[in-house]
Amino acid sequence: MSAVKIKEGVYWVGAVDWNVRSFHGHTFNTKRGTTYNSYLIVDEKIALIDSVYAPFSQELLANISEIVPPEKIDYMVVNHVEGDHSGSVPEILKYCPKAKVVGTEKCKTGMYKHYYGNWDWLTVKTGDKINLGKKTLTFVEAPMLHWPDSMFTYIPELELLLPNDAFGQHISSSKRFDDEIDQSELMDEAASYYANILLPFSPMVLKKIDEVVKMGIKISMIAPSHGIIWRKDPMKIINAYVKWAKNETTSKVVIAYETMWKSTELMAKTIGDGVASTGVGVVIADVSEVDKTNVIKEMLDAKGYLIGSATHGNDMLPQISGFLAFLKGMKPKGRIGAAFGSYGWSGGAAKSIEEVLTGAGINIVQPFMQCQFVPDKEELKKLFEYGVEFGKKIKNG
Ligand code: FEO
Repeated sequence: MSAVKIKEGVYWVGAVDWNVRSFHGHTFNTKRGTTYNSYLIVDEKIALIDSVYAPFSQELLANISEIVPPEKIDYMVVNHVEGDHSGSVPEILKYCPKAKVVGTEKCKTGMYKHYYGNWDWLTVKTGDKINLGKKTLTFVEAPMLHWPDSMFTYIPELELLLPNDAFGQHISSSKRFDDEIDQSELMDEAASYYANILLPFSPMVLKKIDEVVKMGIKISMIAPSHGIIWRKDPMKIINAYVKWAKNETTSKVVIAYETMWKSTELMAKTIGDGVASTGVGVVIADVSEVDKTNVIKEMLDAKGYLIGSATHGNDMLPQISGFLAFLKGMKPKGRIGAAFGSYGWSGGAAKSIEEVLTGAGINIVQPFMQCQFVPDKEELKKLFEYGVEFGKKIKNG
């Protein structure tokens, strides 16, 4: 994809990764691909804000060359060390010998530990500025959004915020702007991105948004490092972040399970019928079959989590175990939960799940439910009632 002008003297010069389907070491299924957004700021001095994943270095260079010869770049701003944004920095610097590398102190350390380059550095902290001529780069440190090195770059003359990973989405598209694509797809991917990457850092998200609001800066465009640029209504994504970071939930239950011979699945569906009969929304997912990234996204606004597994080796099955380990790391707050599962002779899975949920800070509101082999009519009735009881707890807050 060619360079695109996004504001006066500012160009998207990144790369579209149409084919990537797993990200962050397979922790994120990128069903719509992604982009690595890099921005070229052209003024008396020229700055490149972030690079792209290393395999896309030549696309980045080609896009820059459409606007200016790369050797004219004065500043290579690194908002974040992670390889999907810094991967092309070593290659780019070969073409712009006079460029200073700009980032936080932690960024400088992290970049050295990645690439071992002895580059000309300018380390910056919140409030530091670089005057490019008519435009100013202003820096705001954003530690743990989502790495310790993370930083936002802001251009006050253009009311343009370049927050790197924050406010991003994994969407590959020939379109660059929010008003050019389907809104539900955009917000679905933004929610998935928040739930699977940023949720554990919610306290820092709220603090940073509060800090930026108090700075009184005007924002007419947010250009993140992944996906679509917010120009139509930047407040839409800021307000969504506030809601997600506050762990606001709706009357909804996610039932996630892994089954061996479909007994646990029957339990999941019967409990789900019970929950649904109370008017509460239900999403049911076998995590060994469906997209786990999407299940975590569904959990973002769900008040209740019901987790089930068949017993194997006196414990839960491996896919749901891995799923729960990931969920625990996401640190959801203010949720209620319960566990269930089938067994053959000694049980153990439901108890294990209950322990993991407790350790993850989920409030267990009902003792776990187990069934031996295949649930009979009486047990199915109890399972339905189990769901009804859980649904009422969701409704009653
Ligand atoms: Fe934290 Fe998109 O990398």
